[in-house]
Amino acid sequence: MSKYQLDSSPIYIDGTDIPNNKLELQDSDLIHEIENNLLKEAYQTFLSKINNTTKFNEIFFINLHKKTFESLYNFAGVYRDVNMTKGDSQFCLAQYLDNESKRIFQELENDNYLKNCKDKKEFVNKLTYYQSELIALHPFYELNGRILRLFCDLLCVYNGYKLIDYSSAIDNGKYIEASIDCVQYADNSKLEDIIFNGLVKDQ
Ligand SMILES: Nc1ncnc2c1ncn2[C@@H]1O[C@H](COP(=O)(O)OP(=O)(O)O)[C@@H](O)[C@H]1O
Ligand SMILES: [Mg+2]
Repeated sequence: MSKYQLDSSPIYIDGTDIPNNKLELQDSDLIHEIENNLLKEAYQTFLSKINNTTKFNEIFFINLHKKTFESLYNFAGVYRDVNMTKGDSQFCLAQYLDNESKRIFQELENDNYLKNCKDKKEFVNKLTYYQSELIALHPFYELNGRILRLFCDLLCVYNGYKLIDYSSAIDNGKYIEASIDCVQYADNSKLEDIIFNGLVKDQ
């Protein structure tokens, strides 16, 4: 299967599954390597920046996408204005995207960025809810999964946990299965298991 799934998105080089990029690269392995390096750098940069006053709001979220990938992509930090699907999943319709995003981030702010959770179970339950909402939002043309997991990882560190280990769930397809349940059936239970098992307290 191709690494880049063709969906109704204008960002790809005509007739290919490769995103238009500022380096004019057409080698998808090389692009993936560059994306992975940019993401690693972003983890270092943002982990060193977050502190007790960080606001995990929409601007912060958009900025993560922008700062991480702006050297490679013009669409970094830009919400899509087309409808997108993957498999049988329809993500938030483009016309509702702005409002939906504002609603989700307002809820997270009202939830005090999860600072008031009494234990790991409650923290995981709430984090799963927001991750599921943002999976269904799928606001960017590409790189939604990686930026969303970065955002949630930073939220974990802010709340005294370590980064979530998603590696086996991503490798064995369980993360996609969980995402399908979230988007198509509003069922977060598989995602909650993945997050619960991947999360440990930073002692
Ligand atoms: N069939 C699907 N149904 C619902 N969600 C999906 C499906 N396939 C992928 N996803 C979600 O979309 C994310 C991938 O989006 P994408 O923008 O390509 O990000 P990335 O390039 O970082 O993987 C996955 O992490 C998953 O949460
Ligand atoms: Mg992708």
